[in-house]
Amino acid sequence: MFFDPERFEPRDDRSPAWNRGAYIAEGLSHCSSCHTPRGPLGEELTNRLYQGASVDGWFAPAMTAANPAPVPWTSAELHDYLNTGASHYHGTAAGPMAPVTQGLGALSAKDQQALVTYVESIGDGDARAAHTASAVSSALDVDAQDRSRMASAGGRLFVAACASCHYNRAPDVNPNRPELGLNSAVFLDDPSNLIRVILYGINAKDGAAGIVMPGFARGLTDDDVASIAGYLRSTRTTKAPWPDLAKQVAAIRAAGTGEIR
Ligand code: HEC
Ligand code: HEC
Repeated sequence: MFFDPERFEPRDDRSPAWNRGAYIAEGLSHCSSCHTPRGPLGEELTNRLYQGASVDGWFAPAMTAANPAPVPWTSAELHDYLNTGASHYHGTAAGPMAPVTQGLGALSAKDQQALVTYVESIGDGDARAAHTASAVSSALDVDAQDRSRMASAGGRLFVAACASCHYNRAPDVNPNRPELGLNSAVFLDDPSNLIRVILYGINAKDGAAGIVMPGFARGLTDDDVASIAGYLRSTRTTKAPWPDLAKQVAAIRAAGTGEIR
């Protein structure tokens, strides 16, 4: 019902690089099949192209300007994230996105650049590049000035389980330990990505070369994971709290799709 056989048609009003990138994204890489919400019959809702969608128990974030990460997705950030699986400010490609970046890493430099040209145009991140410095400094300030952490169960667990790796100090972020105050997983309306990363970690194959994050599925209870996620949400963002977190952790565990590493 929803498949119309057709050839890719380049747009005259766009550069050859943009058209090549669109061809790679829409044809070979089918980026939109994960990042576009689907209707009741599984059809991609083309009027909500790239607005973000659930896939295989993860959430593929919006690639439009609605992406919730505080630092804009500039060409430079997209280039590193898509082709190496990790970027300076946005962290790591985990879950179903990891194999995508491994595939893109094998493209020629010219095709990688073409894909970046196209993807950048979806969210127009370069136009907001100047926001990067202020987003980074406010995330680092929040972290440095968070005096409340020992006052809550979630904050104390965060210190014990996470802060030994996830700390950064002004003036910049160490890309080998993603700044959680800048990571989409903490800002999305759907907490699945954050819960999954806490439970199952990131293995050496999926993340940045040679770097791993341990999983906590065995060491933390559902309530522990929920309270860390809730703590990050309330201290790192101004977004509404996630409802029923412990239940969502239990459901993800019960689905049993992540391996314990
Ligand atoms: C198989 C499903 C799938 C496909 C295909 C896919 N993605 Fe993703 N993508 C995801 C998921 C899931 C995430 C979240 C990963 C995480 O949290 O680490 C993601 C994350 C991203 C992010 C980071 C968003 C953020 O705010 O952190 C970008 C950018 C992105 N994808 C671009 C692309 C592009 C470009 C393509 C096509 C070349 C593509 N994706 C293909 C599932 C997919
Ligand atoms: C031993 C060090 C270590 C500990 C402890 C640790 N992490 Fe990580 N974490 C990492 C590394 C390294 C990465 C990046 C992985 C990579 O690039 O391969 C990461 C990545 C992440 C990401 C980003 C995932 C993405 O898709 O961008 C989140 C979110 C995260 N960690 C949350 C946590 C939380 C919450 C805790 C505590 C429960 C925690 N981490 C404990 C090392 C750690």
